[in-house]
Amino acid sequence: MRTPPLASGPDGPDALRPLLATVLDALTDGNRARGGPLPAGGPHTVAARIADTLGDALPDTGDPDALHALVHALAEGSADPADPLCAAHLHCPPLAVATAADLAASALNPSLDSWDQAPAATALEAAVTRALAHTTGLADALVTTGGTESNQLALLLARETHGPHTRLICGENAHHSLPRAAWLLGLPDPTVVPAPRGILDPAALHDTLTAQPGPHLVTATAGTTDAGLIDPLPEIAGLCTAHGARLHIDAAYGGGLLFSDRHRDKLAGLEAAHTVTLDLHKLGWQPIAAGLLAVARPRELTALHQHTDYLNADDDTEAGYPDLLGRSPRTTRRPDILKIAVTLKTLGRTGLADLTDQVCARARELAALIHDHPRFELYDRPVISTVLFRPTDADDTTVATIRRTLLHEGRAVLGRARMDGRLWLKATLLNPHTRPDDLAQLLKLAEGTTP
Ligand SMILES: Cc1ncc(COP(=O)(O)O)c(C=O)c1O
Repeated sequence: MRTPPLASGPDGPDALRPLLATVLDALTDGNRARGGPLPAGGPHTVAARIADTLGDALPDTGDPDALHALVHALAEGSADPADPLCAAHLHCPPLAVATAADLAASALNPSLDSWDQAPAATALEAAVTRALAHTTGLADALVTTGGTESNQLALLLARETHGPHTRLICGENAHHSLPRAAWLLGLPDPTVVPAPRGILDPAALHDTLTAQPGPHLVTATAGTTDAGLIDPLPEIAGLCTAHGARLHIDAAYGGGLLFSDRHRDKLAGLEAAHTVTLDLHKLGWQPIAAGLLAVARPRELTALHQHTDYLNADDDTEAGYPDLLGRSPRTTRRPDILKIAVTLKTLGRTGLADLTDQVCARARELAALIHDHPRFELYDRPVISTVLFRPTDADDTTVATIRRTLLHEGRAVLGRARMDGRLWLKATLLNPHTRPDDLAQLLKLAEGTTP
């Protein structure tokens, strides 16, 4: 076999072109073979098909058809967030333009651990992260792999600023990555505050802050995973100020509302946080990964400082070469900022706002359909784009079975959430191409699967 061509360099684009045609054909064929939002038949069927396509994962002799075969198998066996009936998770359909930009990131392969591996990407990241931070009212932002890493970093900065006895106080509605980060970082056991009806209770937070000695890190959520609800941010920020507590806001989901004139007010109070998690692979239509942690006090980032001569020698830094190691706990790092920058420039704020407004409008329409439906109960009107519902008079086992039946048949992908002690079906609408007819079909499928 001749030496395989490279993706970058003068011959890179010409080498990529026919391979891209192969990938695009395999995506088309694989999507067609699936024929719905999810492969039918459940985990065993999908695993058997992958095993069949893969055969020996490390054969002695290579197979030039592997690109087509494996991309086809992956597409056929994917949950497709671009299908309007795929609406379970905060799993967005990526924009074509962002995905095209991501190809350039893979081809050029800059690594953001030193300037000499990523000269332009370094400058791009610095400018775009600052611009995004400013939309939150904060000063700077780090690029992360998503909400989980952002939340971990927020706890790390809190620990480094206020000491190892800093206690996390979070609502029972908080994302699991927050208590997990406390465990990972060796912080005291978190205090979990009640969140009746899915929203952190400020009175209970006040009691906790009064009763427990500090230092405290309070976390609030702007867009809960289960119901897309927003904690009362201004009230929580006021309590933090009064009690001298640090505030982190997890806006992994709700952060996308910042783009929208119509919905931005729901995030009032965000600017009072010390740190804010954003995640543009949710309400930002980016391919994974596209997380950010915005910080109010960039000086705190010195806690991340690392010195290693091969990446950030003092004399290089003194000569004006950017020191990138303090911008992430990772070393080698993809330029995820490229697809984000391309998206922001291509669509503009109003273009992104249109997408946000669309999915929020679809959620309101779905909620109205459910509200008027005699066989379904609506949990509440959506705040962002999540709608919880269940068949009237169904028990939790029935709700779980409806969801799993739809998954097994590959006909719809709905999520599940436990709220107020009951299990609900969850539709998380992130597809701006979803039409009102699709919503009616989603309900019809759920109804048709109800025993
Ligand atoms: C509120 C919230 N925070 C954090 C996360 C974690 O984000 P990621 O999956 O990108 O790590 C999620 C994921 O759904 C989330 O809903």
